[in-house]
Amino acid sequence: MRFDGVHYLRWAKEHQGRARYSLTCSNMRPVTLAELGLGLDDVAIASGDPDGYGPLKAVAAEQFGVAPEEVFIGAGATGCNFVAFAAALDEADGGPGHVLCETPGYTCLDDAVRPFGAAVETFTRTYDSGFAIDCDDLRRRLRPDTRLVVVTNLHNPSGAALRPAELAELAAIAETHGCRVVVDEVYKDFVAESANPMARRYGGRMTSVTGLSKVYGLSGLRVGLLFADAAFVRRCYRIVDYLAGSNSVPGDAIAAAALRRRDWLVERARRIAAPALAHVRAHVEADDLLEWAEPPAGIIAFPRIRRPLNTLVLADFLEREYDLGVTPGDLFGLPGHVRLGFGLASPEDLEEALRRFRDGIRSMPE
Ligand SMILES: Cc1ncc(COP(=O)(O)O)c(C=O)c1O
Repeated sequence: MRFDGVHYLRWAKEHQGRARYSLTCSNMRPVTLAELGLGLDDVAIASGDPDGYGPLKAVAAEQFGVAPEEVFIGAGATGCNFVAFAAALDEADGGPGHVLCETPGYTCLDDAVRPFGAAVETFTRTYDSGFAIDCDDLRRRLRPDTRLVVVTNLHNPSGAALRPAELAELAAIAETHGCRVVVDEVYKDFVAESANPMARRYGGRMTSVTGLSKVYGLSGLRVGLLFADAAFVRRCYRIVDYLAGSNSVPGDAIAAAALRRRDWLVERARRIAAPALAHVRAHVEADDLLEWAEPPAGIIAFPRIRRPLNTLVLADFLEREYDLGVTPGDLFGLPGHVRLGFGLASPEDLEEALRRFRDGIRSMPE
């Protein structure tokens, strides 16, 4: 195996906390134990369950409409993705083969696939299509040894939602080609399930990954959930035997309590996100140097700047001169854009950050 680095995450960790006004982070404002109606004495320390904390599996199964044996609990969505890639690309099962990832995309996913030795190629979600998936193009890129297709929904960086028709097409590809499709759904619950169904609903090798970091405001818990067929979930737990052995029980116990209040948490998230997105929309529409594919909901957006600027240099310039953090599109594979994350800032800070952004993209020297 080769670990050449998860480049986006390195950049994000190095830049974390540097700017007073930060639009780099894609998390949601944190929830407290008190808001969940929990005291520390309510949190389990020990568990007798060998593969995944039983109460969390049970509530996740109930909330997401799957069977408990279709639930894998991992260390954040990050941990779930890594374990899913290990399970899907296992040499004992004919792997690692070929993997298709989206671009622009959350490149941590591509980077997490590479250590398993798979040949990673990308397919493009274009700005002009509103970052939709062109399934005909995707089909043309499949190889006989393609074992895995990885996408995000909502799309990171643009926030675009997959339409049910796109998901149905992905399921058809998984079925006819015999490959697994992993859909990272960490931002999905900002949008109603009826408009934006989870990938696992389509059965077969369709696999959903989600977590409590984004919509649920519990990024410090490091709890992620994967929903797949029971055989695949068993493989995932066999892989965890090589890692931490199991998740933290207190973390999983808090996650279980949080999911019992899922409706409230989702409502809270949408209540915080909607005015922030409206604020960003008003800003983008009023600024003739910006254009975007407007996301339907959520806490990230990916405007394009109508000036020929190097966006990596721009991000450094804004940090240095404007005390403002934004993430360059280059880290998602699309220079010329920046990703704005607005789930953490107070309304006043968001206003000030956007004001600085408007000034900064004008004053940066070419
Ligand atoms: C698409 C996507 N997946 C996963 C993650 C990480 O989630 P977690 O904190 O649950 O590991 C992020 C964080 O930015 C993300 O954008």
